[in-house]
Amino acid sequence: MTEYRPLQQLPDTAGYRAGDVLVLVGELFGRGYANGLVDEARRIGMTVIGTTVGRRDTSGALRPLTAEEITEAEALLGGPVINIPLEAGFDMESVNGIPSIAEQLKKARPDDFATTSFIEGSIENARAAGTARLRAHLAQLEEELLSRIPAEANILIAHAMAGGIPRARVFMPLLNRIFKGIGDKYLASELFWESPLGRLCNSSFNEVTAETFLYLIEGTAAIRERNTASGARVNYSAYGYHGTGVLINGEYRWQSYTPYVQGFAKMRLEKIASEATSRGISATVYNCPEIQTNSSALFLGVEISLYPLLSAIRREAGDQIAAPLEARCQSMLKEGETVSTLLECADRYLSSPVLDQIEDFSTWPQHNTREQAELMLAASGALMEMHSDQKQLICAELSRIVFLATGRLILHSSWNPPASTLWLNHDVIGQLLADARGAEIV
Ligand SMILES: NC(=O)c1ccc[n+]([C@@H]2O[C@H](COP(=O)([O-])OP(=O)(O)OC[C@H]3O[C@@H](n4cnc5c(N)ncnc54)[C@H](O)[C@@H]3O)[C@@H](O)[C@H]2O)c1
Repeated sequence: MTEYRPLQQLPDTAGYRAGDVLVLVGELFGRGYANGLVDEARRIGMTVIGTTVGRRDTSGALRPLTAEEITEAEALLGGPVINIPLEAGFDMESVNGIPSIAEQLKKARPDDFATTSFIEGSIENARAAGTARLRAHLAQLEEELLSRIPAEANILIAHAMAGGIPRARVFMPLLNRIFKGIGDKYLASELFWESPLGRLCNSSFNEVTAETFLYLIEGTAAIRERNTASGARVNYSAYGYHGTGVLINGEYRWQSYTPYVQGFAKMRLEKIASEATSRGISATVYNCPEIQTNSSALFLGVEISLYPLLSAIRREAGDQIAAPLEARCQSMLKEGETVSTLLECADRYLSSPVLDQIEDFSTWPQHNTREQAELMLAASGALMEMHSDQKQLICAELSRIVFLATGRLILHSSWNPPASTLWLNHDVIGQLLADARGAEIV
């Protein structure tokens, strides 16, 4: 069990300088956490090298990006992307002519989730084949890195990978019921999690979200040893999630989105960082706040705990920074709605006794209950309703602040991390905005 260790003070400025390299492992979209790291690396003059997960062609085979796709990816990153497909997971692996998991699930019906079965041994065999494929691709990646990065350069190897929902139609209706269902549509996450399809998800999430960090650390041993031998630092970071400390009823308190079933894999990620750290490798998981990205769109309600960031910014960074942001947020609300009523509404949900009974750090992650799901989804809907345009949301603005701020915090903290797992809560994000390194974020 990982100790709750929030980063309480801003890290010292890291020693990375021009010529040092950020290697981003995972693909960059426009509005994800990794954008913050890339932004800070570039701001301090580091070289940024990107990677790709590749694409599946019409036959289902994994392929590198086409010339057109790579040009697009490099334009988005603003730097070179190494074109070796690093997709993780095993849903599409067919071993010895046995149909892949995705293929086996083609005719599965959502209503049968508790009794769906797989060809014996096929999950284990597919998993082993998926791992072997990724490890082979990471070995090619390392060759490229060895030739592109000078031996004296400091390197931050940043893991951003998360995911693993198997690509079969049967999952979407089920996951929608777990994350967004009320009334007849409600589905208890525990019931699903203990079913054959839930166990498959558990295995797949672990493989994509957690084990990839271990394969990456092991698969870059040669460059790590070469560069550290020349006196440079090679550090690893990964994005975790394990609840966040936010302002509730005027006090910073740990809370979590429920039901975060991916949390089991995120705890495995923490363990991988802790084991690597005890072997003398600088590897840190940074547990980050709930924000809206491509990957979090499924988790309706995850954004509720983002609203009180406004109060944390006021408290930590002061009126000069908070006032213009609050004014921008106010302008996104319908007439008659105010930022204060919005914050009261979020606080009512976050301080509700229903959550108090469920959320517990020591037994995290918790499964949903009907009462909690209905309360959360109603609060999420009410908060959205306060906006005048559903395409211009306060949470989008706050998400941008969070991914930019965490990028800066992670990059600097990775130089000399105080623990193998750290929480980046709303307080330290607020503090950063008042620091020279966070100056132009808001
Ligand atoms: N969004 C949140 O609220 C939140 C909160 C805390 C931590 N995080 C973590 O931040 C990290 C970045 O996520 P994000 O929310 O910015 O979303 P994102 O969609 O921008 O990033 C997801 C990343 O996972 C990679 N990925 C997806 N499927 C993969 C697969 N099969 N194999 C290999 N890589 C795969 C993508 O290429 C991408 O780099 C993730 O680890 C996520 O869990 C997110």
